[in-house]
Amino acid sequence: MLQPPTRPAVLVFSLLLLMPFFLAAQSPTYDQPYRPQVHFSPAQHWTNDPNGLVYFRGEYHLFFQYNPFGDQWGHMSWGHAVSTDLLHWHELAVAIPEQNGIMIFTGSVVIDAENTSGFCARGSDCLVAIYTGHSESPQGVRQTQNLAYSLDNGRTWKPYERNPVLDLHLADFRDPSVSWDPAAHHWVMAVSLPKEHKVRLYSSPDLKSWTQLSDFGPAGDIAGDWECPDLLRIPSATGKGSIWALKVGLNPGAPQGGSGEQYFLGSFDGKTFTQSRQQGSHGWTNYGKDDYCAISFNGLPVTEKPILLGWMSNWQYAAKLPTSPWRGQMSLPRRLSFINDDAGLAIKQEPVISPLRGKTLAASFDHPIHTPFELRMKFDPAATQPFGIKLFTDEQHWTEIGFDANANLFYIDRTHSGQGVSPDFPAKTTAPLVASRPFDLTLIVDRSSVEAYAQDGTIAMTNLIFPTSSNVTVSPFPTAKAVKGTAQSWELHSIWVK
Ligand code: FRU
Repeated sequence: MLQPPTRPAVLVFSLLLLMPFFLAAQSPTYDQPYRPQVHFSPAQHWTNDPNGLVYFRGEYHLFFQYNPFGDQWGHMSWGHAVSTDLLHWHELAVAIPEQNGIMIFTGSVVIDAENTSGFCARGSDCLVAIYTGHSESPQGVRQTQNLAYSLDNGRTWKPYERNPVLDLHLADFRDPSVSWDPAAHHWVMAVSLPKEHKVRLYSSPDLKSWTQLSDFGPAGDIAGDWECPDLLRIPSATGKGSIWALKVGLNPGAPQGGSGEQYFLGSFDGKTFTQSRQQGSHGWTNYGKDDYCAISFNGLPVTEKPILLGWMSNWQYAAKLPTSPWRGQMSLPRRLSFINDDAGLAIKQEPVISPLRGKTLAASFDHPIHTPFELRMKFDPAATQPFGIKLFTDEQHWTEIGFDANANLFYIDRTHSGQGVSPDFPAKTTAPLVASRPFDLTLIVDRSSVEAYAQDGTIAMTNLIFPTSSNVTVSPFPTAKAVKGTAQSWELHSIWVK
């Protein structure tokens, strides 16, 4: 016969019932309706640009512009997360907090392998951060370049006592990107003069004293401020040779509205970056509205392709995104190479995603798929125009991804995706199509974003969406019959332990 439990038993039993609640209260949850499942977002509060991406002693470090006190921009500090596979991130304590009214703006982290700075322990390497200090006083705004260093794998940081190391007495002078030039045996910094539409290059033997090398710009698109430069060498997709790329953020006034990212391809002789005269030497690292201030990882083995990662948002509406208790997320990491074909030069991007692949999904698309998922398709371009797929979350809401060879455009239309966010949010973003490149498509659909890669990765288009459901029905258009090609899809495992 079942006996009524004694009093202590009732107590133990109710404590057991409450356990999950206590555990949940301690560890952040990553299961809110719009919470990205394959993209990094901080457990709570505001983030914008990624900072200081570096691979060091087996760990990838992602620092990020972070407000430790709320979900709006402010008190800018460097948040910190680490990963061993570029996908599963573990958020750590704030790395470099705002101090004495000086905000810690965007910058980079280098491995000082030869202890050129003198910050490292004797005979050892260490991490050095180079960031913009932003201060406001009755005399005005001042942006300067500063150092901090870490002797414990990025866990704690000490500001250099003789900061700043570079000061032009300007209100707009920011976002240093530093790397080691092995041939010249010194550091090279690319830093932005946003209002002059210039990237200025400097060199340094020790990260502390800097000598001006050259300026690049104005060039390409100068409709807005130039921010977040990155100078990097990119290998050819064929494995033969390499090219130099200078990537620079543009805000506002990018072609899709608000923030955007342009690149220049060319040569760098150790002093000066020169844009190539070849077709395709100016392009956009992203043709969507939501990929800004992407930077590449320092410290990768030289045999590896560079890896670029950006902030998945746009200054037009970043402050209004309907997410809580966090606001802001990062793009997937993408491996970079370049192609040089009949249509000219182009950067090719391949998202790092395959380690998250789970069950293969049927390609007939009769049943709703649960986000996150990956879809790879190859289309026969002879099909009726335009053609592509729609991602329905109910009868009135869908996101359309299409090729329109008549108009020469690849596009994502999110005007019917779900929540509108702000008047600048509904959009059809477009990229020029190249008839001679493949009509292929890789889509990564997360709970609040669509990342698209088309034409052999030469088009990357990233857009946030705030859909009505996490169940998506994939539907080819104009009709399933008219669209010819092949498709493969996978459900993706969440990067968060639930
Ligand atoms: C770009 C940017 C950077 C700056 C940072 C401040 O998104 O404006 O130029 O360093 O954000 O948070």
